[in-house]
Amino acid sequence: MATAHVFIATSLDGFIARSDGDIDWLLQRDDQSEDHGYPAFIADKDVIVMGRGSYEKVLTFDAWFYDRPVVVLSQQLADSPVPEELEGKVRFSSLTPAGLMEELERQGVRRVYIDGGQLVQSFLRDGLVADMVITTVPVLIGSGRPLFGALAQDIELKLVTSRCFPSGLVQSTYQLAP
Ligand SMILES: NC(=O)c1ccc[n+]([C@@H]2O[C@H](COP(=O)([O-])OP(=O)(O)OC[C@H]3O[C@@H](n4cnc5c(N)ncnc54)[C@H](OP(=O)(O)O)[C@@H]3O)[C@@H](O)[C@H]2O)c1
Repeated sequence: MATAHVFIATSLDGFIARSDGDIDWLLQRDDQSEDHGYPAFIADKDVIVMGRGSYEKVLTFDAWFYDRPVVVLSQQLADSPVPEELEGKVRFSSLTPAGLMEELERQGVRRVYIDGGQLVQSFLRDGLVADMVITTVPVLIGSGRPLFGALAQDIELKLVTSRCFPSGLVQSTYQLAP
């Protein structure tokens, strides 16, 4: 079975970006002397799945830094061509989370990195997330795009590990019930 995994940073008040998508508050904390575990996390992931919101933000960066195939889930982009410079690196899909996971599994994919607030919420609601690494940044930004949202029922998590960094980041790894 292909499994879905989350690695995401949030402000202490629960936002992954400001309302306009800005993540300055996160990038300015990016202390290169600290290893926050991303290389180890990504090492065993086969594919990255992100929402259109995350994809549009990444497009504003100078370089495409993903070294894994990226699937962008989007109704809006589904029928658009992928930008020429990203051909072979990115594809668009309008499948549901479960539909995409089934498709990826048929293609031999085993471990999938899920990125983007709305997308994580959707995968969580559908019971598709195996575990989450949540890095909390000690800043309150007051409003923005939330990491978590409304649920039809509670989701129980098991804390696997938690660690703090000299920079003040706190990183917790949670497993979800299978
Ligand atoms: N703090 C962090 O670690 C972190 C990580 C990732 C992203 N970010 C930031 O967060 C922002 C993007 O996150 P976001 O929550 O706004 O958007 P997102 O989850 O990246 O994308 C949401 C969009 O994905 C599409 N979509 C397709 N299937 C979906 C589904 N099943 N459930 C939900 N959405 C689906 C929808 O677009 P269509 O209308 O086209 O279908 C929806 O509007 C950016 O500013 C990015 O920089 C921060």
